[in-house]
Amino acid sequence: KTYEDLYKFSVNNSDDFWGELAKTRLDWYKPFSQVSDCDMNSGNIKWFDGGKLNVSVNCVDRHAAKHPDKVALIWEKDEPGNTEKVTYSQLLAMVCKISNCLKDSGVKRGDRVAIYMPVSPIAVAAMLACTRIGAVHSVVFAGFSADALAQRIQDAGVETILTTDQGVRGGKVIELKKTVDAAVQKCPSVKRVFVSKRTGENAPKTNLDIDLDAAMKTASENFTPEVMDSEDLLFMLYTSGSTGKPKGIVHTQAGYLLYASMTQKYVFDYHDGDIFGCVADIGWITGHSYVVYGPLSNGATTVLFESIPTYPDPGRYWEMVERLKINQFYGAPTAIRLLLRYGDSFVKKYDRSSLKVLGSVGEPINHEAWEWYHNVVGDGKCDVVDTWWQTETGGIAVTPRPSGPNDKIIPAAPMRAFFGIQPAILGSEQEDLQGVNEGALCIKNPWPGMARTIYGDHERFMDTYYRPFPGHYFSGDGAKRDEEGFIHITGRMDDVLNISGHRLGTAEVEDVLDEHPDVAEAAVVGVPHAVKGEEAFAFVTVKENFSRDHETLVKELQGLVRERIASFAVPSQMLVTEGLPKTRSGKIMRRILRKVAAGQVDDLGDISTLADPTVVSILIRDSNFVF
Ligand code: WT7
Repeated sequence: KTYEDLYKFSVNNSDDFWGELAKTRLDWYKPFSQVSDCDMNSGNIKWFDGGKLNVSVNCVDRHAAKHPDKVALIWEKDEPGNTEKVTYSQLLAMVCKISNCLKDSGVKRGDRVAIYMPVSPIAVAAMLACTRIGAVHSVVFAGFSADALAQRIQDAGVETILTTDQGVRGGKVIELKKTVDAAVQKCPSVKRVFVSKRTGENAPKTNLDIDLDAAMKTASENFTPEVMDSEDLLFMLYTSGSTGKPKGIVHTQAGYLLYASMTQKYVFDYHDGDIFGCVADIGWITGHSYVVYGPLSNGATTVLFESIPTYPDPGRYWEMVERLKINQFYGAPTAIRLLLRYGDSFVKKYDRSSLKVLGSVGEPINHEAWEWYHNVVGDGKCDVVDTWWQTETGGIAVTPRPSGPNDKIIPAAPMRAFFGIQPAILGSEQEDLQGVNEGALCIKNPWPGMARTIYGDHERFMDTYYRPFPGHYFSGDGAKRDEEGFIHITGRMDDVLNISGHRLGTAEVEDVLDEHPDVAEAAVVGVPHAVKGEEAFAFVTVKENFSRDHETLVKELQGLVRERIASFAVPSQMLVTEGLPKTRSGKIMRRILRKVAAGQVDDLGDISTLADPTVVSILIRDSNFVF
């Protein structure tokens, strides 16, 4: 059968397609009774109902039984050239030990457990231990601040946290335990904090601490896995939307695992024995699906990259590719854009002949970066796959591969739908736009990896994803279809920014700025940036009695954003001004702010609907005083 036949079968006979795969690719305690039962109008979504399985068994036990000494994890530590390998049988022992530690301390099926750790075997084993005992993990990116961590702990009612004493990235120490302790101060729900050693420097201690390494030493290497229902919660992962509060996106057991597994195998043409190198952090969905669940469910050797692309120098990735003989490399456009500025020599010094597929994820890849990735990194010999997906889709949804082996790949576009996905481009009247067209990127049909809800807020889930275009999943992205029917992503349609591949709601930053006692009002917009893709630009107006200098205020505001959210969220430019452009109904006209932020003040477009057009000349005047 050709790829085309298979794709048609996957969408026309979706239940047969996914049902057969679920039966043959996953190990079940009890077979499912129904493949899918999904209603995209009510957001009631069930896959493989009635089935019982355990995710850690599918990711570890079944491979450990077949090839115990195969390497499951290669930990590429921050310290250059330092790696640690963990075989499937060792991983199984680690997972069981942590499961026992968690259970002995009182963690039960259904409990939410926060993981705030660097990319490391202990973190991966902690995620899998949660799945083994039926707890729901919430991995929080270890770059988020104490306040951001606290907010996520509170929203999920977390009682248990796993962390390390410190982290190291690019040679710099990150005080993880200190941050956890500060977060816990605001979270009375927390009953215990498991701490594992990364650096061994004296991190602060509290009476909630449990030494994870010590507890594991005496724990048993056996743990009978919890028998989970297909639709039990597997994990939640917070992501940004267009309102201030991050959303806890919920994924469940069987559908998510199958989708991560299938996409890892077919998008990257993964074969037994390949070394799979996804350099994402486990704090993001890319790390969940393509560092942990996809590769491990397929019994692969997966690389855990703890460092940064420029440490000790901009050859880090390619030196690692040579040393570890990586076959599939999956990274972010922002890193590619950064590295290409250092020239080709850092790439060419190293042997990259092991590479077969190069993946790109998280944001649009520009043509220059795509060409460099293809021609220089891949020597023109690798398929470059620009993969479009989201935290909410669970796995890759639009991607140049799989497709026929001779089907062309065009630069910088995700092009084709994955098996079982029917993308649609919808217009402002909710019409399904055919042919060459541009509109809202939606998905017409259910797929196993789709998010099930927002933790504790199904109404927000419906409002965000299913009500804008009834009967469809709405992604929040715009897309266009070209003459050949290929899909190109045009960018977010809502107020969500993408800064170095990090998703951030402008409202999240505005909420923080508004907290400052001197700020009357704040508006944040994105401005294009050559390496980061986008940056945040903040406009603030101050209260009437404000008389201090603007520079000090800007510093305070930057500090506040760093403290409440994370460093990546700090607006790179700020303008303290006297008024924001508003319509007569009081809505801030961000279109105008975007132009001012980008320095295009000569081209502001129609300003006739402004309540007070004089605001514009003040803004233009003040735009000479940007910090
Ligand atoms: C948003 C999702 C995909 C997993 C990591 C990020 C943007 C993602 C692409 C791409 C253009 C892309 C979209 C999307 N995005 N991949 N290949 N081309 N844009 O997951 O944090 O949930 O962000 O990232 O805007 O909606 P996320």
